[in-house]
Amino acid sequence: MVAKEKVTVTVIKADVGSVVGHSRPHPSMLQVSKDILAEKQKKGVIEDFYVTRVGDDINLFMTHYKGEGNKDVHGAAWDCFQAATKIAKTMKLYAAGQDILTDAFSGNVKGAGPGSAEMTFEERGSEPLLFFMADKTEPSAYSGPLSRVFLDPFTTTGLVIDARAKKGFDVEIHDVLDCKKVVMSSPEETLDILSLLGDTSRYAIKRISSRAGIGPAAVLSTDKLNLTAGKYIGKDDPVCVCRCQSGLPSVGEYTQPFINTTWLAAGWMRGSHYGAFYPCSPEDSDPTYYDGPPRICCLGFQINDGRLQGLEPLNSKGGDHEPVDFFKGATFDGARARSIKASRFMRSQGPFCPSILPAEEMEYTSRPEVLKSLVARFENISDAGKPKKTTKKKDVE
Ligand code: 13P
Ligand code: 13P
Ligand code: MG
Ligand code: MG
Repeated sequence: MVAKEKVTVTVIKADVGSVVGHSRPHPSMLQVSKDILAEKQKKGVIEDFYVTRVGDDINLFMTHYKGEGNKDVHGAAWDCFQAATKIAKTMKLYAAGQDILTDAFSGNVKGAGPGSAEMTFEERGSEPLLFFMADKTEPSAYSGPLSRVFLDPFTTTGLVIDARAKKGFDVEIHDVLDCKKVVMSSPEETLDILSLLGDTSRYAIKRISSRAGIGPAAVLSTDKLNLTAGKYIGKDDPVCVCRCQSGLPSVGEYTQPFINTTWLAAGWMRGSHYGAFYPCSPEDSDPTYYDGPPRICCLGFQINDGRLQGLEPLNSKGGDHEPVDFFKGATFDGARARSIKASRFMRSQGPFCPSILPAEEMEYTSRPEVLKSLVARFENISDAGKPKKTTKKKDVE
Protein backbone atom coordinates (compact mmCIF):
# COMPACT_ATOMS: atom_id res chain seq x y z
CA MET A 1 0.00 0.00 0.00
CA VAL A 2 1.30 3.44 -0.96
CA ALA A 3 1.14 5.98 1.86
CA LYS A 4 -1.97 8.18 1.72
CA GLU A 5 -3.59 5.93 -0.89
CA LYS A 6 -7.31 6.44 -0.59
CA VAL A 7 -9.32 3.60 0.90
CA THR A 8 -12.73 2.72 -0.51
CA VAL A 9 -15.51 1.34 1.66
CA THR A 10 -18.08 -0.53 -0.42
CA VAL A 11 -21.34 -1.98 0.85
CA ILE A 12 -23.31 -4.10 -1.59
CA LYS A 13 -26.58 -5.63 -0.52
CA ALA A 14 -29.32 -7.80 -1.97
CA ASP A 15 -32.27 -9.93 -1.00
CA VAL A 16 -31.84 -13.23 -2.81
CA GLY A 17 -34.33 -15.31 -0.87
CA SER A 18 -35.34 -15.96 2.69
CA VAL A 19 -36.65 -18.50 5.15
CA VAL A 20 -40.36 -18.15 5.83
CA GLY A 21 -41.62 -15.36 3.60
CA HIS A 22 -39.48 -12.22 3.67
CA SER A 23 -37.89 -12.93 7.08
CA ARG A 24 -34.19 -13.81 6.94
CA PRO A 25 -31.56 -15.40 4.71
CA HIS A 26 -30.64 -19.01 5.54
CA PRO A 27 -27.36 -19.19 7.56
CA SER A 28 -25.76 -21.16 4.73
CA MET A 29 -26.36 -18.18 2.38
CA LEU A 30 -24.38 -15.94 4.73
CA GLN A 31 -21.72 -18.63 5.13
CA VAL A 32 -21.20 -19.07 1.39
CA SER A 33 -20.82 -15.29 1.09
CA LYS A 34 -18.19 -15.31 3.85
CA ASP A 35 -16.32 -18.16 2.14
CA ILE A 36 -16.31 -16.37 -1.22
CA LEU A 37 -15.17 -13.05 0.25
CA ALA A 38 -12.44 -14.81 2.29
CA GLU A 39 -11.18 -16.21 -1.01
CA LYS A 40 -11.32 -12.74 -2.63
CA GLN A 41 -9.41 -11.30 0.33
CA LYS A 42 -6.73 -13.97 -0.08
CA LYS A 43 -6.44 -13.11 -3.77
CA GLY A 44 -6.04 -9.41 -2.95
CA VAL A 45 -9.30 -8.30 -4.57
CA ILE A 46 -10.42 -6.78 -1.26
CA GLU A 47 -8.52 -5.83 1.90
CA ASP A 48 -11.22 -6.89 4.32
CA PHE A 49 -14.91 -7.73 4.65
CA TYR A 50 -17.83 -8.38 6.96
CA VAL A 51 -21.01 -10.26 6.08
CA THR A 52 -24.26 -9.50 7.88
CA ARG A 53 -27.96 -9.05 7.25
CA VAL A 54 -30.98 -6.96 8.14
CA GLY A 55 -34.25 -8.87 7.83
CA ASP A 56 -34.06 -10.74 4.51
CA ASP A 57 -31.25 -8.61 3.03
CA ILE A 58 -27.65 -9.83 2.86
CA ASN A 59 -25.20 -6.94 3.40
CA LEU A 60 -21.56 -7.25 2.35
CA PHE A 61 -19.16 -4.68 3.83
CA MET A 62 -15.88 -4.55 1.90
CA THR A 63 -12.74 -2.39 2.07
CA HIS A 64 -10.18 -2.04 -0.72
CA TYR A 65 -7.92 0.32 -2.64
CA LYS A 66 -9.52 -0.15 -6.04
CA GLY A 67 -11.87 2.85 -6.09
CA GLU A 68 -15.63 3.01 -6.55
CA GLY A 69 -17.48 0.94 -9.14
CA ASN A 70 -14.59 -1.51 -9.47
CA LYS A 71 -15.37 -4.59 -11.57
CA ASP A 72 -13.54 -7.08 -9.34
CA VAL A 73 -15.05 -5.77 -6.12
CA HIS A 74 -18.57 -5.66 -7.55
CA GLY A 75 -17.89 -9.05 -9.13
CA ALA A 76 -17.02 -10.47 -5.68
CA ALA A 77 -20.44 -9.37 -4.39
CA TRP A 78 -22.11 -10.71 -7.53
CA ASP A 79 -20.48 -14.12 -6.95
CA CYS A 80 -21.80 -14.14 -3.37
CA PHE A 81 -25.37 -13.37 -4.48
CA GLN A 82 -25.22 -15.98 -7.25
CA ALA A 83 -24.07 -18.65 -4.81
CA ALA A 84 -26.62 -17.60 -2.18
CA THR A 85 -29.40 -17.59 -4.81
CA LYS A 86 -28.45 -21.13 -5.79
CA ILE A 87 -28.81 -22.27 -2.17
CA ALA A 88 -32.12 -20.40 -1.83
CA LYS A 89 -33.45 -22.10 -4.99
CA THR A 90 -32.28 -25.55 -3.87
CA MET A 91 -34.06 -25.02 -0.53
CA LYS A 92 -37.13 -23.53 -2.27
CA LEU A 93 -36.80 -20.48 -0.02
CA TYR A 94 -39.11 -17.56 -0.53
CA ALA A 95 -38.39 -15.11 -3.38
CA ALA A 96 -35.14 -16.88 -4.29
CA GLY A 97 -33.08 -14.54 -6.46
CA GLN A 98 -35.53 -11.66 -5.76
CA ASP A 99 -33.07 -8.81 -6.37
CA ILE A 100 -31.10 -10.37 -9.23
CA LEU A 101 -32.52 -8.74 -12.34
CA THR A 102 -30.11 -10.07 -14.94
CA ASP A 103 -28.31 -13.33 -15.72
CA ALA A 104 -25.13 -11.73 -16.92
CA PHE A 105 -22.78 -9.62 -14.80
CA SER A 106 -21.63 -6.60 -16.79
CA GLY A 107 -18.87 -5.32 -14.52
CA ASN A 108 -20.96 -3.41 -11.98
CA VAL A 109 -24.01 -4.25 -9.84
CA LYS A 110 -25.67 -0.94 -10.77
CA GLY A 111 -28.83 -1.66 -12.69
CA ALA A 112 -28.51 -5.38 -12.00
CA GLY A 113 -30.64 -5.39 -8.84
CA PRO A 114 -28.37 -5.25 -5.76
CA GLY A 115 -27.90 -1.91 -3.97
CA SER A 116 -24.51 -0.33 -3.41
CA ALA A 117 -23.07 2.50 -1.32
CA GLU A 118 -19.41 3.42 -1.72
CA MET A 119 -17.15 6.12 -0.33
CA THR A 120 -13.47 6.82 -0.91
CA PHE A 121 -11.31 8.85 1.46
CA GLU A 122 -7.89 9.42 2.89
CA GLU A 123 -7.81 7.45 6.13
CA ARG A 124 -7.45 9.78 9.10
CA GLY A 125 -5.44 9.06 12.27
CA SER A 126 -8.57 7.41 13.57
CA GLU A 127 -11.51 6.57 11.36
CA PRO A 128 -14.79 5.56 13.07
CA LEU A 129 -17.49 4.32 10.66
CA LEU A 130 -21.15 3.51 11.16
CA PHE A 131 -23.07 1.18 8.86
CA PHE A 132 -26.84 1.69 8.96
CA MET A 133 -28.91 -1.06 7.30
CA ALA A 134 -32.68 -0.95 6.82
CA ASP A 135 -35.25 -3.52 5.72
CA LYS A 136 -38.79 -3.00 4.37
CA THR A 137 -38.20 0.59 3.35
CA GLU A 138 -36.67 3.05 0.87
CA PRO A 139 -33.71 5.50 0.79
CA SER A 140 -35.81 8.55 1.64
CA ALA A 141 -36.50 6.93 5.03
CA TYR A 142 -33.02 8.22 5.96
CA SER A 143 -33.89 11.81 4.97
CA GLY A 144 -35.46 12.70 8.34
CA PRO A 145 -32.75 11.24 10.57
CA LEU A 146 -29.90 12.61 8.39
CA SER A 147 -31.53 16.05 8.27
CA ARG A 148 -31.57 16.04 12.06
CA VAL A 149 -27.90 14.99 12.17
CA PHE A 150 -26.50 17.37 9.53
CA LEU A 151 -28.93 20.30 9.44
CA ASP A 152 -30.29 20.77 12.93
CA PRO A 153 -28.12 22.43 15.59
CA PHE A 154 -30.74 21.63 18.24
CA THR A 155 -29.99 17.96 17.49
CA THR A 156 -26.28 18.07 16.67
CA THR A 157 -24.49 20.46 19.00
CA GLY A 158 -21.34 19.70 17.00
CA LEU A 159 -22.75 21.97 14.26
CA VAL A 160 -22.41 24.82 16.76
CA ILE A 161 -19.25 23.98 18.71
CA ASP A 162 -17.03 22.11 16.22
CA ALA A 163 -15.35 24.72 13.98
CA ARG A 164 -15.09 22.33 11.02
CA ALA A 165 -18.62 20.93 11.31
CA LYS A 166 -19.79 24.55 11.44
CA LYS A 167 -18.48 25.06 7.88
CA GLY A 168 -21.39 22.89 6.83
CA PHE A 169 -22.03 20.08 4.39
CA ASP A 170 -22.81 19.55 0.72
CA VAL A 171 -25.91 17.42 0.29
CA GLU A 172 -26.41 15.59 -3.02
CA ILE A 173 -30.15 15.12 -3.50
CA HIS A 174 -31.69 12.85 -6.12
CA ASP A 175 -35.00 13.56 -7.82
CA VAL A 176 -36.22 10.02 -8.11
CA LEU A 177 -38.92 10.61 -10.70
CA ASP A 178 -36.99 12.83 -13.10
CA CYS A 179 -33.63 11.05 -12.60
CA LYS A 180 -31.84 14.30 -11.78
CA LYS A 181 -29.49 15.33 -9.00
CA VAL A 182 -28.61 18.59 -7.31
CA VAL A 183 -25.95 19.47 -4.73
CA MET A 184 -27.10 21.94 -2.08
CA SER A 185 -25.11 23.39 0.80
CA SER A 186 -25.91 23.65 4.49
CA PRO A 187 -26.23 25.75 6.56
CA GLU A 188 -27.07 28.46 3.95
CA GLU A 189 -29.63 26.40 2.06
CA THR A 190 -30.96 24.35 4.97
CA LEU A 191 -34.58 25.42 4.54
CA ASP A 192 -34.51 24.83 0.78
CA ILE A 193 -32.93 21.40 1.31
CA LEU A 194 -35.77 20.55 3.71
CA SER A 195 -38.30 21.85 1.22
CA LEU A 196 -37.13 19.15 -1.21
CA LEU A 197 -36.47 16.31 1.23
CA GLY A 198 -39.88 16.74 2.85
CA ASP A 199 -41.32 15.14 -0.29
CA THR A 200 -40.12 11.62 0.48
CA SER A 201 -41.87 10.23 -2.59
CA ARG A 202 -39.64 12.24 -4.92
CA TYR A 203 -36.38 13.27 -3.25
CA ALA A 204 -33.71 11.27 -1.42
CA ILE A 205 -30.20 11.96 -0.18
CA LYS A 206 -27.44 10.16 -2.07
CA ARG A 207 -24.33 11.61 -0.47
CA ILE A 208 -23.22 14.19 2.11
CA SER A 209 -19.71 15.69 2.09
CA SER A 210 -17.79 17.92 4.47
CA ARG A 211 -17.21 21.54 3.41
CA ALA A 212 -14.14 21.60 5.67
CA GLY A 213 -12.11 19.36 3.36
CA ILE A 214 -12.63 16.10 5.28
CA GLY A 215 -14.27 14.38 2.32
CA PRO A 216 -17.38 12.19 2.32
CA ALA A 217 -19.49 12.05 5.48
CA ALA A 218 -22.38 9.80 4.44
CA VAL A 219 -23.42 7.78 1.39
CA LEU A 220 -26.60 5.83 0.71
CA SER A 221 -27.55 3.03 -1.65
CA THR A 222 -30.15 4.37 -4.07
CA ASP A 223 -29.60 2.00 -7.00
CA LYS A 224 -33.20 0.96 -7.53
CA LEU A 225 -34.30 4.57 -7.54
CA ASN A 226 -32.13 5.15 -10.58
CA LEU A 227 -33.50 2.24 -12.59
CA THR A 228 -36.62 3.73 -14.09
CA ALA A 229 -37.49 7.35 -14.64
CA GLY A 230 -41.08 8.31 -13.99
CA LYS A 231 -42.09 5.20 -12.07
CA TYR A 232 -41.41 4.74 -8.40
CA ILE A 233 -39.67 1.45 -7.64
CA GLY A 234 -37.45 2.41 -4.76
CA LYS A 235 -38.21 -0.02 -1.92
CA ASP A 236 -34.70 -1.40 -1.93
CA ASP A 237 -33.99 -1.72 1.79
CA PRO A 238 -31.10 0.76 1.68
CA VAL A 239 -27.82 1.05 3.56
CA CYS A 240 -26.16 4.25 4.70
CA VAL A 241 -22.44 4.41 5.52
CA CYS A 242 -21.29 7.29 7.76
CA ARG A 243 -17.86 8.58 8.81
CA CYS A 244 -17.77 10.06 12.28
CA GLN A 245 -16.03 12.51 14.65
CA SER A 246 -13.45 15.31 14.25
CA GLY A 247 -15.31 17.76 12.01
CA LEU A 248 -18.03 15.25 11.15
CA PRO A 249 -21.01 14.30 13.33
CA SER A 250 -19.96 12.16 16.29
CA VAL A 251 -21.08 8.55 16.64
CA GLY A 252 -23.66 9.58 19.22
CA GLU A 253 -24.96 12.42 17.09
CA TYR A 254 -25.76 9.87 14.37
CA THR A 255 -27.59 7.48 16.70
CA GLN A 256 -29.52 10.11 18.67
CA PRO A 257 -32.35 10.75 16.14
CA PHE A 258 -33.46 7.14 16.43
CA ILE A 259 -34.36 7.71 20.09
CA ASN A 260 -35.59 11.29 19.89
CA THR A 261 -38.06 10.65 17.07
CA THR A 262 -40.29 7.76 16.02
CA TRP A 263 -39.79 7.94 12.24
CA LEU A 264 -42.43 6.81 9.78
CA ALA A 265 -40.91 4.92 6.86
CA ALA A 266 -42.58 3.75 3.63
CA GLY A 267 -42.24 0.18 2.41
CA TRP A 268 -43.71 -1.98 5.16
CA MET A 269 -45.80 -5.04 4.18
CA ARG A 270 -45.93 -5.70 0.44
CA GLY A 271 -43.88 -2.52 0.01
CA SER A 272 -47.11 -0.61 0.37
CA HIS A 273 -47.51 0.64 3.93
CA TYR A 274 -46.09 3.20 6.32
CA GLY A 275 -44.65 1.78 9.54
CA ALA A 276 -42.37 3.21 12.21
CA PHE A 277 -38.61 2.58 12.11
CA TYR A 278 -37.68 -0.09 14.70
CA PRO A 279 -34.03 0.30 15.74
CA CYS A 280 -32.55 -3.08 16.65
CA SER A 281 -29.68 -5.54 16.38
CA PRO A 282 -29.36 -7.62 13.19
CA GLU A 283 -30.19 -10.58 15.47
CA ASP A 284 -33.56 -8.95 16.22
CA SER A 285 -34.22 -7.85 12.64
CA ASP A 286 -36.64 -10.61 11.60
CA PRO A 287 -39.76 -8.73 10.46
CA THR A 288 -42.10 -10.51 12.86
CA TYR A 289 -45.02 -8.04 13.00
CA TYR A 290 -46.93 -7.62 9.72
CA ASP A 291 -43.63 -8.20 7.87
CA GLY A 292 -41.98 -5.43 9.86
CA PRO A 293 -42.16 -2.79 11.09
CA PRO A 294 -39.26 -1.40 9.00
CA ARG A 295 -36.09 -2.43 10.81
CA ILE A 296 -32.97 -0.29 11.12
CA CYS A 297 -29.63 -1.58 12.45
CA CYS A 298 -26.41 0.29 13.15
CA LEU A 299 -23.03 -1.47 13.26
CA GLY A 300 -19.72 0.27 13.94
CA PHE A 301 -16.14 -0.44 12.91
CA GLN A 302 -12.91 1.53 12.97
CA ILE A 303 -10.81 1.49 9.80
CA ASN A 304 -7.17 0.51 10.37
CA ASP A 305 -4.90 0.69 7.30
CA GLY A 306 -7.76 -0.32 5.07
CA ARG A 307 -8.90 -3.13 7.37
CA LEU A 308 -11.99 -3.28 9.57
CA GLN A 309 -11.33 -3.19 13.30
CA GLY A 310 -14.10 -4.09 15.73
CA LEU A 311 -13.98 -5.98 19.02
CA GLU A 312 -11.99 -8.92 17.59
CA PRO A 313 -8.20 -9.16 18.08
CA LEU A 314 -5.90 -7.11 15.83
CA ASN A 315 -5.51 -8.45 12.28
CA SER A 316 -8.41 -10.89 12.52
CA LYS A 317 -9.74 -12.24 9.25
CA GLY A 318 -13.02 -10.98 7.75
CA GLY A 319 -15.10 -13.87 9.01
CA ASP A 320 -14.11 -13.20 12.63
CA HIS A 321 -15.02 -9.54 12.85
CA GLU A 322 -17.27 -8.28 15.63
CA PRO A 323 -18.72 -4.79 15.19
CA VAL A 324 -20.19 -2.65 17.93
CA ASP A 325 -23.95 -3.20 17.69
CA PHE A 326 -25.39 0.21 18.54
CA PHE A 327 -29.11 -0.51 18.58
CA LYS A 328 -28.85 -3.85 20.39
CA GLY A 329 -28.97 -2.73 24.01
CA ALA A 330 -31.66 -1.64 26.45
CA THR A 331 -31.00 2.04 25.62
CA PHE A 332 -33.23 1.55 22.56
CA ASP A 333 -36.01 -0.40 24.34
CA GLY A 334 -38.15 2.73 24.66
CA ALA A 335 -37.66 3.60 20.97
CA ARG A 336 -38.69 0.08 19.99
CA ALA A 337 -41.80 0.24 22.18
CA ARG A 338 -42.73 3.58 20.60
CA SER A 339 -42.17 2.10 17.14
CA ILE A 340 -44.63 -0.73 17.85
CA LYS A 341 -47.13 1.74 19.32
CA ALA A 342 -46.90 4.02 16.26
CA SER A 343 -47.01 1.06 13.88
CA ARG A 344 -50.12 -0.31 15.58
CA PHE A 345 -51.74 3.09 15.22
CA MET A 346 -50.93 3.09 11.49
CA ARG A 347 -52.31 -0.45 11.14
CA SER A 348 -55.54 0.57 12.88
CA GLN A 349 -56.36 2.56 9.73
CA GLY A 350 -56.56 -0.63 7.63
CA PRO A 351 -56.27 -0.33 3.85
CA PHE A 352 -56.70 3.46 3.89
CA CYS A 353 -54.16 6.21 3.20
CA PRO A 354 -51.97 7.25 4.93
CA SER A 355 -51.59 3.73 6.37
CA ILE A 356 -51.13 2.48 2.82
CA LEU A 357 -49.01 4.50 0.39
CA PRO A 358 -50.46 6.85 -2.25
CA ALA A 359 -51.50 4.96 -5.40
CA GLU A 360 -48.42 5.89 -7.46
CA GLU A 361 -46.06 4.56 -4.77
CA MET A 362 -47.74 1.20 -4.11
CA GLU A 363 -45.42 -1.66 -4.93
CA TYR A 364 -48.40 -3.38 -6.48
CA THR A 365 -52.13 -2.82 -6.62
CA SER A 366 -55.13 -4.55 -8.13
CA ARG A 367 -56.88 -1.26 -8.79
CA PRO A 368 -56.31 -1.17 -12.59
CA GLU A 369 -58.14 -4.51 -12.94
CA VAL A 370 -60.92 -3.32 -10.63
CA LEU A 371 -61.34 -0.16 -12.69
CA LYS A 372 -61.26 -2.15 -15.94
CA SER A 373 -64.03 -4.40 -14.70
CA LEU A 374 -66.13 -1.34 -13.84
CA VAL A 375 -65.74 0.58 -17.11
CA ALA A 376 -69.24 -0.25 -18.28
CA ARG A 377 -70.77 0.54 -14.89
CA PHE A 378 -69.21 3.97 -14.29
CA GLU A 379 -71.65 6.78 -15.07
CA ASN A 380 -71.10 10.50 -15.31
CA ILE A 381 -72.58 12.37 -12.38
CA SER A 382 -72.51 15.76 -14.02
CA ASP A 383 -74.69 17.08 -16.84
CA ALA A 384 -71.64 18.93 -18.06
CA GLY A 385 -70.49 15.66 -19.54
CA LYS A 386 -67.15 13.98 -19.15
CA PRO A 387 -64.93 15.67 -16.57
CA LYS A 388 -61.58 16.97 -17.83
CA LYS A 389 -58.80 14.42 -17.67
CA THR A 390 -56.52 15.16 -14.71
CA THR A 391 -52.81 14.55 -14.72
CA LYS A 392 -50.50 14.40 -11.73
CA LYS A 393 -49.35 17.89 -10.87
CA LYS A 394 -45.79 18.53 -11.93
CA ASP A 395 -43.33 19.63 -9.25
CA VAL A 396 -42.26 22.63 -11.31
CA GLU A 397 -44.79 24.34 -13.57
P1 13P B 1 -14.42 11.71 24.58
O1 13P B 1 -14.00 12.88 25.41
O2 13P B 1 -14.94 10.56 25.38
O3 13P B 1 -13.36 11.34 23.57
O4 13P B 1 -15.70 12.16 23.68
C1 13P B 1 -15.59 13.20 22.81
C2 13P B 1 -16.79 13.30 21.94
O5 13P B 1 -16.83 14.16 21.10
C3 13P B 1 -17.94 12.39 22.08
O6 13P B 1 -18.94 12.76 21.21
P1 13P C 1 -38.59 -7.25 0.98
O1 13P C 1 -38.47 -6.04 0.09
O2 13P C 1 -37.77 -7.10 2.23
O3 13P C 1 -38.28 -8.51 0.24
O4 13P C 1 -40.07 -7.33 1.51
C1 13P C 1 -41.10 -7.51 0.61
C2 13P C 1 -42.41 -7.31 1.25
O5 13P C 1 -43.19 -6.59 0.72
C3 13P C 1 -42.75 -7.99 2.49
O6 13P C 1 -44.06 -7.73 2.92
MG1 MG D 1 -37.68 -10.34 0.42
MG1 MG E 1 -35.76 -6.86 2.47
